[in-house]
Amino acid sequence: MAKRIDVSGLSAYYGSAKAIEDISMTVEPRSVTAFIGPSGCGKSTFLRTLNRMHEVIPNAHVEGKVMLDDENLYASGVDPVAVRRTVGMVFQRPNPFPTMSIYDNVAAGLKLNGMRRKGDLDTLVEKSLKGANLWNEVKDRLNKPGAGLSGGQQQRLCIARAIAVEPQVLLMDEPCSALDPISTLAIEDLIGELKERFTIVIVTHNMQQAARVSDRTAFFNLAAVGQPGRLIEIDETERIFSNPSVQATEDYISGRFG
Ligand SMILES: Nc1ncnc2c1ncn2[C@@H]1O[C@H](COP(=O)(O)OP(=O)(O)OP(=O)(O)O)[C@@H](O)[C@H]1O
Ligand SMILES: [Mg+2]
Repeated sequence: MAKRIDVSGLSAYYGSAKAIEDISMTVEPRSVTAFIGPSGCGKSTFLRTLNRMHEVIPNAHVEGKVMLDDENLYASGVDPVAVRRTVGMVFQRPNPFPTMSIYDNVAAGLKLNGMRRKGDLDTLVEKSLKGANLWNEVKDRLNKPGAGLSGGQQQRLCIARAIAVEPQVLLMDEPCSALDPISTLAIEDLIGELKERFTIVIVTHNMQQAARVSDRTAFFNLAAVGQPGRLIEIDETERIFSNPSVQATEDYISGRFG
């Protein structure tokens, strides 16, 4: 089931450099939250702290708390691998496992979770590919390599792979930035469907996309180059785009900077 995220006092570092500072926000279940803001303000960094991917980078660390319902993802004893299973991620560049078939790309995570029976795997692979709106295009070539699909199809394959293991939260870092407009619309439609089951957070540089797909929008900014990024405001998307509380948000969305 989709879970609520509650972040408090979160800062993230690369070595001694603080990339984001003192971020607090909540994300409601079964909703889409968009992260917007100029390049370098820490959107990707913050996204990666939500499933403990940040600490994979050498010398990187996180301060603060990320609650997923009643569990602090940073409490001692929490297994980061289990966190990443619960909080899935889709990246900017579609990254299917290149030598694996379409089928195996989707089945890989299920197998890692111990699913062995072919019948069970078949059912879930089909369900995930249907969930990602890709089934009809690939059902006759499931054993062909994932790398042989178009960019938009590969991104939907990555979404199928991510949802196959039934995460509760899906993080997407500019998932459409490498795609053509038709594939982009396909992914946006898909996000609208997925939010009935998942809690979704998406980073985007496309203001129209944020306005189209998200329920709430968070604007991040940095005071100056070299300063850590901060959350400036988060609100209903409609409000952020019509009547934001902070002048910097208004300037950004109306294209006056960034
Ligand atoms: N692996 C890393 N090692 C060191 N510093 C990093 C690393 N990744 C990001 N940074 C720094 O952290 C800050 C925030 O970067 P981040 O990638 O989170 O920004 P962003 O908002 O996602 O930008 P963009 O819109 O360009 O993707 C930047 O100053 C960046 O240089
Ligand atoms: Mg980024």
